Amino acid sequence: MTISIQRESVVKYEVDLEDSTLLAVLNKIKTTQDSTLTFASGCRSSVCGSCAMRVNGREVLACSYKVQEGDFIEPLKNMPLIRDLVVDMNQAYSFNAKAKAWLNPLSPVPSVTEQNTKINEIQSDCILCGSCYSACPVYAVNSEFKGPFSLTRVWKYVSDVREGDSKEKIDTIQTDGIWDCTLCNECTLVCPQGISSKSDIEKLRSKSAIAGYTDPNFANFGGGFGFDGSPSF
Ligand code: SF4
Ligand code: SF4
Ligand code: FES
Repeated sequence: MTISIQRESVVKYEVDLEDSTLLAVLNKIKTTQDSTLTFASGCRSSVCGSCAMRVNGREVLACSYKVQEGDFIEPLKNMPLIRDLVVDMNQAYSFNAKAKAWLNPLSPVPSVTEQNTKINEIQSDCILCGSCYSACPVYAVNSEFKGPFSLTRVWKYVSDVREGDSKEKIDTIQTDGIWDCTLCNECTLVCPQGISSKSDIEKLRSKSAIAGYTDPNFANFGGGFGFDGSPSF
């Protein structure tokens, strides 16, 4: 089979592995054809998140994706390219700190029930693969947007019964945060862990409304039409 990889230019490789993961194919190319091919990997079992890349324009984990004839492989989008299929995720990681995505407990710590843990169980499964940042059209045009996985983490801690200052987190995500998201759902579609950052952002909007915040985009709507159809401002 033939696959193409976006390096400095598009390079085609012939590989004789059928029914193999993309990571196995990349390893075979590196060991038998081209040792300079650069990609990241770790666990080979969809746990570490390091092998995320794009196939035919869609984010995947190379260690779980089964290669097809004619596949076109590219690095993740929206992050600085280091080399070949490796990108620098430092800026995306930095948003966890900017969004104050950590637990801030005040004593005494309440006991945590099974029902409490279910509320944010899935958010704990994030493997920081970066696929959601690559797929996010808002992050593509606004590098200050705190983005999907940081906002998901904020929801994880805001919804944690042990969190002692959720208002601080809600305050922090009002700018370049929840109101900038277009709710397009692209982040959810590519997440290998089944996490819906879009849904978490909607829940954070509800929490923000309870805290007295409103959608700043409504302030930009200029009037409407009167009962007689004439414009009103
Ligand atoms: S739903 Fe929001 S965070 Fe997710 S990809 Fe769309 S704009 Fe980005
Ligand atoms: S939320 Fe999903 S897509 Fe985004 S970094 Fe975490 S695991 Fe990857
Ligand atoms: S190598 Fe760890 S997720 Fe693919």
